[in-house]
Amino acid sequence: MRHLMSPLDFTADELEQLFILANDIEKNPDKYAHACEGKKLASAFYEPSTRTRLSFEAAMLNLGGSVLGFSDAGSSSAAKGESVADTIRVISCYADICAMRHPKEGAPLVASQRSLIPVINAGDGGHQHPTQTLTDLLTIRSMKGHLDNLTIGICGDLKFGRTVHSLINALIRYANVRFVLISPEELRVPSYIRDDVLKANDISFKEVVRLEEVMGELDILYMTRVQRERFFNEEEYLRMKGFYILDKEKMKYAKEDMLILHPLPRVNEISVEVDDDPRAAYFQQAQYGVYVRMALILTLLNIKV
Ligand code: NCD
Repeated sequence: MRHLMSPLDFTADELEQLFILANDIEKNPDKYAHACEGKKLASAFYEPSTRTRLSFEAAMLNLGGSVLGFSDAGSSSAAKGESVADTIRVISCYADICAMRHPKEGAPLVASQRSLIPVINAGDGGHQHPTQTLTDLLTIRSMKGHLDNLTIGICGDLKFGRTVHSLINALIRYANVRFVLISPEELRVPSYIRDDVLKANDISFKEVVRLEEVMGELDILYMTRVQRERFFNEEEYLRMKGFYILDKEKMKYAKEDMLILHPLPRVNEISVEVDDDPRAAYFQQAQYGVYVRMALILTLLNIKV
C-alpha cells in the first residue's frame, strides 16, 4: 500500500506517468467517469481549506466514487481528544482512501503508519503540501511543455509557505532549474531548504527582496500569500502583508510568456487587474488540481482504466 506524504515519494518517472494520466483525464473525462464506482474518499480536514478539500471531493465524484468526511477539527472527535492515529484506524473501516490536512507537521505521516488505506497529505502545518506541488508541476508542464530549463521566481512568505517548500523539493530534480527567491528578510526560506536542499544539491539560486529587479529574468512567477495563521504576532503579520503587490505596472517588466502561478487563496498580493493578463494562470492551475488529484486517486488505489 502506498501513501503520499511528500512529492519525493514518487520518482521523476512515476510523476511523468501521473502527468500523462492527468492530461488524458483532461482530454477524455468520460473514459474515467466510472473508474471509482463503489469507492469512497474520506476527507479529514483539521484546518480550513476550500480548494484542496473541494478539489479532492470533485476528483472522486468525477471518477464515479463517493465522499465523506469533516472539514473542521471542532466537528470531529479530535474535539474530544482523539488522536489522529485512532481516527485514521476508524476511517480505514469506512473509506478506501483518505486525504488529510492537519495544522501539525507530521500528523498525516503518523496517520499513514496506523492506516489500513492510502493516506494523502493534504497539507501539514508549515511543512509540505505535496498535492499542491503535483498541481503546480502539471500546470507548468502542460502550459510550458517542460519542467527543465526554467528560471522560477517564488515570491512572498517563503518561511511559512508549505507549498513553497514542497515545490522547491520537487523542482530540483529537473535539469537546469534556477530559483529566484523573493521575500522580505523576515520571511526567507528556512535553512533546511536553503542548506539541505538547495546548497546540498548544488542548485542555482539567489535571494532578493525587490520583485521589480528580477521580474525580467523569470519564466514562472509563483506568488504566495503571507501565512497569517502561522504568525505569532498580528502586528508582524500586518507589517508583512502588503509587502508585495503584483500589479499591471510590475507586469510591464515581465517576459511575454512568463506564467503567473499562485496556489490560492490570494489576499492582496496579486491585484485583480492582473487577472485579465494572458500570463495569469492561477485559475487554470486550480483546474489542473482536479485532474492531478483524479490521477493520484487512481494511482494510489491501483485502478487501471
Ligand atoms: C495553500 C495551503 O493551504 O497551503 N492553499 C492551497 O491548498 N491551495 C496556500 C495557502 O493557504 O496560502
